[in-house]
Amino acid sequence: MMAEYILSIDQGTTTTRAFIIDRKGNYIGTATQKFQQIIPKPGWVEHDPNVIWETVCHVIEEVIQKSGVSYSQIKALGITNQRETTVVWDKITGEPIYNAIVWNSNQSLDIINKLKNDKNEEYIHKNTGLVMDPYFSASKIRWILDHNEGSQAEAEKGKLLFGTIDSWIIWKLTKGKLHVTDHTNASRTMLFNIHSLEWDHKLLELFNIPKSMLPTAYPSSYSYGETDSSLFEGVKIPICGVAGNQQASLFGQLAFQSGQVKSTYGQGTFIVLNTGTKAKLSNHRLLTTIAYSLDGQINYALEGSALISGSAIEWLKDGLELFEKIEDSEDLALEANKESPVYVLPTFRGIGAPYWEPDVRGAVLGMDEHTGKRELVLATFESLAYQVNDIIDLMESDTGIELEVLHVDGGVAQNNFLIQFQADILNKTVTRVERLETTGLGAAYLAGLAVGYWKDLDELKALVSESEIFQPNMTQLERIKKIKGWHNALKTVRYYTQ
Ligand code: G3P
Repeated sequence: MMAEYILSIDQGTTTTRAFIIDRKGNYIGTATQKFQQIIPKPGWVEHDPNVIWETVCHVIEEVIQKSGVSYSQIKALGITNQRETTVVWDKITGEPIYNAIVWNSNQSLDIINKLKNDKNEEYIHKNTGLVMDPYFSASKIRWILDHNEGSQAEAEKGKLLFGTIDSWIIWKLTKGKLHVTDHTNASRTMLFNIHSLEWDHKLLELFNIPKSMLPTAYPSSYSYGETDSSLFEGVKIPICGVAGNQQASLFGQLAFQSGQVKSTYGQGTFIVLNTGTKAKLSNHRLLTTIAYSLDGQINYALEGSALISGSAIEWLKDGLELFEKIEDSEDLALEANKESPVYVLPTFRGIGAPYWEPDVRGAVLGMDEHTGKRELVLATFESLAYQVNDIIDLMESDTGIELEVLHVDGGVAQNNFLIQFQADILNKTVTRVERLETTGLGAAYLAGLAVGYWKDLDELKALVSESEIFQPNMTQLERIKKIKGWHNALKTVRYYTQ
């Protein structure tokens, strides 16, 4: 019998990737394609949904070719995606009526500001686990309907559909047969009740969004349907796993137990703590979200998002032109004067958790005449770690659990300087998995479980890959001094904005 594999698509903010994964959780092949960020105005970020779809087709074809596997050897397909990013398309023509509005775009801020009051904030927090912010899909849908003539009427006639990127890809993969999403993605729309697992009528009314636009939400590990036979040489591939990328990486880290926490350093940094089968609401403006759903069980998580991290390193490279290759940044940080009093606040498009202040902008504080590019690079990496530290502190205070180990992954986590500094500032052990691409792995695991490729979570746990361990190595005095400086710097940028 020919060997069977799982195909996984990871549609992220800047790249689309595909992986072929075997029973041992090894990558048999990978393919990546970058695509264009559309910036119509400062603070706005959009993607072309048709370009996203082209990249999905391209990476699937490439990974199949590279790995020498045929479509008929693919047992199931898992999809993970940038979350919240919003597409609205015509049900008949399948054409998007506007670009996808990306999660990190602030163009719907006015809509949020108009609807924000204590009552709405409380209702949203209790029922969706979220805070009122343009980050989530609801205000982005409203923005698209407000800015495309006649679209509200069309939506009310049932002619328009909304989806996060998973829904859009599945719609395309099935040639319009399936309009679906999974619970993790639904939980990021600000329209989904995370307790009853239903779209919330009050919120649909508040944002004036017709229910007919919304996809049906299913578990993350579930037989959704098959890809259309015209796409992959006549083979219909079962679509069986779907999860937002931060939840998928928690699953890919095999963090199935309550109290396990991971931090993924990508364009933003996303810290997700598995809190078990009961939704725990935060007292500190962290998000409560669905971690994954399978076998009739929902697992919840607390999440803190630092909205800018990898993109801050790109700013050092492309904006300030401080180095040519991302890999050079680690050496620069290591060569910097460690006594440098500089703080970089890469809050270019506002601060995420726990402040949720979209108007705040970035700053560099504490420079002296010795500050050079090395010190700026060092301070930017340090800023990523400080943000994670703040969020972990709040998670501990919300749950009353002292978290012992932080599991890290994501492209930026390759940087040893950053991860050692993270351990130092947290004063905790940090483990870095060998396979940093845990998002794609998580989606593959969810898909494989649905078709019995892997029997259960225990079988997955046995696949655990090698990890590197970083132990804290900073005096308490230094740690406290540095964190205090960071908090003072944060206060300064927040004050400056007001
Ligand atoms: O919530 C946004 C998040 O899903 C984006 O992740 O890795 O595509 O930047 P990433």
